[in-house]
Amino acid sequence: MKILITAGPTREYLDPVRFISNPATGITGYLIARIAKRKGHDVVLISGPSFLKPPKGVRVIYTESAIEMKDAVEKEFLACDVLIMSAAVSDWRPEKKFDNKLKIKRKWTLSLVPNPDILKAVSMLKRKNQMIVGFALESQELLKNAIKKMKDKNLDMIVANTVQNFGIPEKKSDIYVIYRDETIKDCSSFTKMELASFIVKEIERLAKKHNEK
Ligand code: CTP
Repeated sequence: MKILITAGPTREYLDPVRFISNPATGITGYLIARIAKRKGHDVVLISGPSFLKPPKGVRVIYTESAIEMKDAVEKEFLACDVLIMSAAVSDWRPEKKFDNKLKIKRKWTLSLVPNPDILKAVSMLKRKNQMIVGFALESQELLKNAIKKMKDKNLDMIVANTVQNFGIPEKKSDIYVIYRDETIKDCSSFTKMELASFIVKEIERLAKKHNEK
């Protein structure tokens, strides 16, 4: 299969040296890419800024802002069988990016505008034989909110994650995989490696089921 994966944070610059971002490590997305490649899939990884080593044999496209990531995803999506959107995309960006380093020393207000929702945009382009997997990061009502996101964004599967797991090398809190029919697999005891491996296995299983239809 041709698998497209996004990973890591986005950066939304307000001047040449300052940005809005988040502590996403990209580890889960990079692990999914590595495992999928090892299993013989054709893998493209679209990565936000990350110090992680690119997995061997995987084509990596580096992006910074949500808009850059959206352009890259839309370009690669047409040719893929599965999109796994594990990137932590910033929901906003500064309204204006200043060309020079800001030297303001007084109180001021930064104006933000919403970023496009990449998953929502590509789910409109989704063909019958394509699958999309999303992630949900929640600080409350984890399962309820994740199921809502899965439906709103027309996903085949969603990985529901808590903020306690965010930005750290190894997960320590609840994590669930939720399917279209709302069945839930509790993956809370898995390591990030085991979770990545499970996600690849589930994609293979669902793709097989899809093709049998
Ligand atoms: N996502 C996206 N584009 C955005 C924001 C999020 O494609 N602008 C994707 C993420 O990669 C993830 C899923 O949507 O797969 C859910 O992201 P999350 O941050 O949990 O939720 P949001 O949709 O941003 O909603 P909220 O922040 O209100 O919880």
